[in-house]
Amino acid sequence: MIENTYYIETWGCQMNDLDTQRLAGQLRLRGFRPVSSDQDASLILLNTCSIREKSEHKVFSRLGELRELGTGGARIGVCGCVAQQEGEAILKRMPFVDFVIGPGNVGHLDEVLSGARRVAVDFPAYRQYDHLAVDRPSPTKALVTVIEGCNKNCTFCIVPTTRGREISRPFTEILKEVRHAVSTGRVEIELLGQTINAYRCSSSGNDFADLLRAVAGMEGIKRVRFVTSHPAEVTEKMIGVMRDHENISRYFHLPVQSGSTAVLRRMKRLYTRERYLDLIAHIKREIPRIVFSTDLIVGFPGETEEDFQQTLSLMNLVRFGSLFAFKYSPRPGTAALRIGPPVDDVTSTRRLRQLLDLQEKIQKATLNRYEGETVTVLYEGPSRHDANILSGRTDDNWTVNFKSHLALLPGTLVEVRVSSAQHYTLRGEALP
Ligand code: SAH
Ligand code: F3S
Repeated sequence: MIENTYYIETWGCQMNDLDTQRLAGQLRLRGFRPVSSDQDASLILLNTCSIREKSEHKVFSRLGELRELGTGGARIGVCGCVAQQEGEAILKRMPFVDFVIGPGNVGHLDEVLSGARRVAVDFPAYRQYDHLAVDRPSPTKALVTVIEGCNKNCTFCIVPTTRGREISRPFTEILKEVRHAVSTGRVEIELLGQTINAYRCSSSGNDFADLLRAVAGMEGIKRVRFVTSHPAEVTEKMIGVMRDHENISRYFHLPVQSGSTAVLRRMKRLYTRERYLDLIAHIKREIPRIVFSTDLIVGFPGETEEDFQQTLSLMNLVRFGSLFAFKYSPRPGTAALRIGPPVDDVTSTRRLRQLLDLQEKIQKATLNRYEGETVTVLYEGPSRHDANILSGRTDDNWTVNFKSHLALLPGTLVEVRVSSAQHYTLRGEALP
């Protein structure tokens, strides 16, 4: 074990990725340095996810593995959504854990490091947020929080419990952080929030469309992405800003969860199948090049075969560029527990398989259409497997692996002619 070193493991969503970058930044300011093995670290942090039961189980089995290091003197901290959800109970179950710190306390690391608090799972009204203390691993891209928490109460979801009520960061503070990221070479900004399009700055009154416009209009920004939008909060103004700014990604993550209005109602998603499809059609008219992605759940309580067929049919209508699909997982304290038991596992597994098979076909056909086309790629760096192959993304979020005769700097926009489509990626050559 080496004094003043840390090791962080991260599960879950981009909010957790960013929380890890914030923890790393704060530790650096306190004289800690990262090590690549948990064996060497004097401080081990697990940044955890509890969105589904499986993710939570993984945390406890990982903690079991760390018992020896913990009793051997390394300090062990549990962060993220499992920390928030379980709090004190983690210390009881795993006495070698030194502290538990929820997502609302990422900026308040001192209190737990000094030993003043072992369990910090409140949501302080003032969330300390030091944008200079974020260790961003990508030289070209920065994640920036816009809004924390979620006020939607989708009946299946634990996020409102683990991340708290919605709280928007001040408009000027976000722009300051973005400006700083740009000054350090980050040309791509990804704005983050659980329901990002519910953003509203309490002092200036600016909404998410205003924020998008301000960020996209900032000098030096080549690409703006944002996740996650709730379909019921998409406004005409937001679509207009997206349409009018070429540097806003033509890739729109719009989780639908189910294609059946009856299921959507029980999920409390606040829209119907028809309203979702109308919204998609409307956005496609305004921004013809747009590609959608989504999240889907199968096996929600009471989901019939017919409901499931409605989900497949919605996929055929929208033709998502990519999607995340999950088997419904009952979460503690959520309203869906009172609706009924999940669909049996054999049926859910079959539905998930069927859904993923359909998506693979749609995706392959979509990617094939790029063959012979020229696409604009934001170059990120050499590919992980082969240093002679460069890698980047199109603005509709496809990964492109390509060759180039010219040396390129990460962060450059380059025109690439696509020679072939792989399963999930494109291949090509940069135009001279
Ligand atoms: N606010 C974001 C993120 C929510 S969590 C959003 O609206 O998309 C990410 C995804 O996990 C959700 O969209 C949903 O598809 C899935 N999910 C959430 N709770 C779940 C549960 N109990 N079981 C299965 N999947 C779940
Ligand atoms: Fe969860 Fe629904 Fe919010 S999926 S994060 S409660 S929008």
